[in-house]
Amino acid sequence: MKPGGRLSGSLRVPGDKSISHRSVMLGSLADGITVVNGFLEGEDSLATLNAFRQMGVVIEGPTAGRVTIHGVGMQGLQAPAAPLDLGNSGTSMRLLSGLLAGQGVAVTLTGDSSLSGRPMKRVIDPLARMGAEIASAEGGTSPLTIAANAPLKGIDYRLPMASAQVKSAVLLAGLYAEGETCVTEPAPTRDHTERMLQGFGYRVRRNGDRVCLDGGGRLQACEIDVPADISSAAFFLVGACIAEASEIVLEHVGVNPTRDGIIAILRLMGADIERLRERVIGGEPVADIRVRSAPLHGIEIPRSLVPLAIDEFPALFIAAACAEGETRLSGAEELRVKESDRIQVMADGLGCLGIRAEPAPDGILIRGGTIGGGQIESHGDHRIAMSFAIAALRASASIEIIDCANVNTSFPGFVALAAEAGLGISEI
Ligand code: S3P
Repeated sequence: MKPGGRLSGSLRVPGDKSISHRSVMLGSLADGITVVNGFLEGEDSLATLNAFRQMGVVIEGPTAGRVTIHGVGMQGLQAPAAPLDLGNSGTSMRLLSGLLAGQGVAVTLTGDSSLSGRPMKRVIDPLARMGAEIASAEGGTSPLTIAANAPLKGIDYRLPMASAQVKSAVLLAGLYAEGETCVTEPAPTRDHTERMLQGFGYRVRRNGDRVCLDGGGRLQACEIDVPADISSAAFFLVGACIAEASEIVLEHVGVNPTRDGIIAILRLMGADIERLRERVIGGEPVADIRVRSAPLHGIEIPRSLVPLAIDEFPALFIAAACAEGETRLSGAEELRVKESDRIQVMADGLGCLGIRAEPAPDGILIRGGTIGGGQIESHGDHRIAMSFAIAALRASASIEIIDCANVNTSFPGFVALAAEAGLGISEI
């Protein structure tokens, strides 16, 4: 990465990862043909797509973001001939655990070394209470083997942590459960599952922090337009804030209020961000986002915004490193169990570039300063790699990032798009 530069132009980042996963899951279980446009052709969502192909669903594409899913109905999945390899994708593993728990087919779910170290007890426990039988490796990690089990029964579950994946796993199992399944969340988390279920004609009831559905219904195929992923836009949002004389427009970005914490946090730090052409497409709020460079200052990040920006903290830590003064994050212990331990890995990387960063069990304190050059170990975490790539816009010397192949899990084409926007980036 060459140091310096500025970002300009209009960009459309790839489709939303969370929505892409869910489109294949619900489209596969629906009656009829679901057409998805804007599908993320990244390794994570392709892992979900391949899993459903292995369970007998006919899926055409993706071709230029278009996927056509021939739904098999709620009971139409077939037992796969081999374990389903979900690669690096926590969303695939956790949501599929719920979706498959009541199918009556035996399935084993596996993943790469990062996914095999991530906590799965958080989904196994509530699903077991519903009557599922899921065996895991010691310590509650994958591989997970789901038994071909009797029907499930609904539960009333209070999430122990703010996790959309656990909420979604329980709700998807609830589709197959007898009676009502309810989930209460400690803080709002992304609600794409609930929105998309409604888009497929399934009744979902929300009352404050509690969401409920009845088992035994059916899904009606529909058309899905996947907006650009705000979590991928995040790197350009931060990049345009920190690089002098930058101005970009990010097009057609999903700005669901359970996902837009990054905009609120950057604005609190002094960012110049405007939402243009706000609209609702297929039940999801979408906007173009204009960002101009602005001097940032450190803040105490409000705890209420943490779940709404949970995937954007690696990028936000780069903003904090470029800000005047200190930025403190707390209440974000979930960052330690993402694709890598994002608190430690970011603290190490920032330290290596000469920025003072003090990790804490549930957050970090970052003192803004001058970013130097150096070699960063991304630990195979896509968002760590892309965050340090953006840091180069304000670095005084070159930054080299190693172990970057996983950028393709969420953002295929990142290097080309970033270079087009003005980042001095090359692959070696
Ligand atoms: C996701 C939920 C979040 C997020 C992940 C995608 C989803 O995980 O970090 O990238 O699509 O439901 P948690 O539920 O573990 O917070």
